[in-house]
Amino acid sequence: MKFTPNRLPLPFLFLAILGLLAALWAGLMRLGWQLPALTPSLAMAHGPLMISGFLGTLITLERAVAMKQKWMYLPPLLSGLGWLVTVLIRGLPLGPVLLALASLGGVAILTEIVRRESALHTVTMLFGALAWLAGNLLWLFGWQINQVVFFWMAFLVLTIAGERLELSRVLRPSRVQQILFGIIVAVFLAGILFALFNLQVGTRVSGLALILLALWSLRNDIAWRNLRHKLPLTRYIAWCLALGFVWLGISGGLSLGFGAQVAGPRYDAVLHAVFIGFVISMIFGHAPIIFPAILGVPINFQPAFYIHLALLHVSLVVRIIADYANLHTLRMWGGLLNEVAIIIFIGMTVYSIRKELSGK
Ligand code: HEM
Repeated sequence: MKFTPNRLPLPFLFLAILGLLAALWAGLMRLGWQLPALTPSLAMAHGPLMISGFLGTLITLERAVAMKQKWMYLPPLLSGLGWLVTVLIRGLPLGPVLLALASLGGVAILTEIVRRESALHTVTMLFGALAWLAGNLLWLFGWQINQVVFFWMAFLVLTIAGERLELSRVLRPSRVQQILFGIIVAVFLAGILFALFNLQVGTRVSGLALILLALWSLRNDIAWRNLRHKLPLTRYIAWCLALGFVWLGISGGLSLGFGAQVAGPRYDAVLHAVFIGFVISMIFGHAPIIFPAILGVPINFQPAFYIHLALLHVSLVVRIIADYANLHTLRMWGGLLNEVAIIIFIGMTVYSIRKELSGK
């Protein structure tokens, strides 16, 4: 295939990756590692940086590139600048305002996509964007992060679920399966909304929906069939996705079994089973598709990709066991190794793009 490098997305990608690195630094501080604070608000901004600064920028950027519309670059610009302002300027809510505007832009992009193609997967992604906007607005108006974090989770889960549904169209889920998918998404959203009034019941309902979504994907997503595919890249992607779905179900099980958590190790476990186990694993798997699409350069598959994949999942198991066993030091190490896996992934991705470009 012939690729033409596209430089336009590079500054946005740079802001997103910088946002990720700042969020990782903040995550280590939140775990208890003694590090320089860099800016007074950095540690507490870990969540918004990860969700909006890194992923919000990356997701809206991917859409802007795919849709080839200039105005669609505004949301990734707003979220890229929004996280910077959030950590640099204290006292004024300018950063959260920019992030809320970015998510409004995300809703505008998805509305346009649904207008062009009204389908279950595009509507699911639109609900994801609306959840991002709702979470950002509540946060802007002073709600605590632990009260809005499930809206942010819905943003990522529904965005990814919608994309997987689109990519699984090869398998053509039956009408009944599509209706089931729609019902699961509706139950998930209902649980998150209900949690605003009754945190325990709402959290358990959305937890149940996550388990059902994982089971639905087990049956309908192409990933499971590709675990033994003869092409190494396809096989690697399948492992990333399949492990991600397993974590989605585990997180749902933790929410269903233990109910809502508002702080501390169990809060850490419920959130990161989804954010790291599902979301980051999906990113590992989608990177060989997303980066060539954004940058116009292919990624050369390396068997060493399995190193960061294995490290991510093993260290997450360690972290979550430590969370439930109240083993503080082990939890710190588990979290640190999660980050090492992400850094290796970035390094490997850059290396394989360069290798492909140099033609070796
Ligand atoms: C990769 C390594 C990561 C580390 C070491 C880390 C660390 C932490 C810690 C220690 C907390 C506080 C939990 C508690 O209250 O005990 C936290 C909260 C949170 N994390 Fe992470 N995290 C990581 C990745 C992620 C990712 C990938 C995302 C999103 C995609 C994410 C989103 C969040 C959110 C939204 C919160 C809630 C923030 C709050 O309540 O202020 N984290 N993280």
